[in-house]
Amino acid sequence: MRNKITIVGAGFVGATAAHWCAVKELGDVVLVDIVEGMPQGKALDLLQAGPVEGYDLHIVGTNDYKETANSDIVVITAGLPRKPGMTREDLVGVNAKIVRGVVENVVAYSPNSIIIVVTNPLDTMVYLAKKVSGFPRERIIGQAGVLDSARMRAFISMELNVSVENIHAFVLGGHGDEMVPLPRYSTVAGIPITELLPPERIAAIVERTRKGGGEIVALLKQGSAFFAPSAATMQMVEAILKDRKMILPCSVYLEGEYGMHDICFGVPVKLGRSGVEQILEIKLTPEEQEAMSRSAALIRSSMAALEL
Ligand code: APR
Repeated sequence: MRNKITIVGAGFVGATAAHWCAVKELGDVVLVDIVEGMPQGKALDLLQAGPVEGYDLHIVGTNDYKETANSDIVVITAGLPRKPGMTREDLVGVNAKIVRGVVENVVAYSPNSIIIVVTNPLDTMVYLAKKVSGFPRERIIGQAGVLDSARMRAFISMELNVSVENIHAFVLGGHGDEMVPLPRYSTVAGIPITELLPPERIAAIVERTRKGGGEIVALLKQGSAFFAPSAATMQMVEAILKDRKMILPCSVYLEGEYGMHDICFGVPVKLGRSGVEQILEIKLTPEEQEAMSRSAALIRSSMAALEL
């Protein structure tokens, strides 16, 4: 039997996620949106690419959660993207209402699913989903660190003219402008970038990574990034469904790890068939720990807007 993947929000991120999902043959896809006809149309279009690409999947679009019943994974992308000049935190009021409603439906129709949240402000929306669903923390995961690390990897690759496959990067903390890229743990073929690049070039890469989403928002002028966010999401889906035990930075509910409680925050986790199978605590310098605290403070300020 094939896995069933529901994607809520059939906009830029959701529809592109469905596309990666089909191309990678990760499972049957249900695309949900409130706009009538749009998810149905996009699903049908994607289904019709199957004969060309060679995938045999059920792909449906709907406005009704009945069709999502018993999904293995539900990816939530429903909500507004930011406009130029906005921070992700500016979206909290409107997106909290949307995410709350979506999560209530997910709990009703797929009580055993694993939820991956993509809607911004990310860590705050993961926290809301955790509280509204009552799911164990293993099954509520936020996508942010994979994207932020991918951006940093791309920038390192551009700087050194080295294959992206050789490059690992670690970006932890919240998915906001105070995110915490960790150059000490970012490597090229196993060599830390701190040994390959001068401090000012590393600082420039760190800064561009932090502002990576905003750079694209400013260029697009409407909407935000969607290719890399959806690809990052699908790497998480694949790691879970194929039980790959991949170590990836994800936003999860912390119960004392990194000295933090009752917050969803980006940390390295092991993803397998049960969701988050382990949270890795890596050693941080006092400066890095301080950066984590600044990032957490930004998340807590947007969490304060939630009505829980
Ligand atoms: N239920 C289902 N879908 C909804 C709901 C809802 N209650 N409310 C809004 N949507 C849908 C919209 O109709 C739209 O099709 O969510 C979709 C969002 O798509 P886009 O506007 O294209 O936004 P996108 O770029 O996909 O970003 C979605 O992901 O990366 C984050 O910051 C980004 O929060 C944003 C989210």
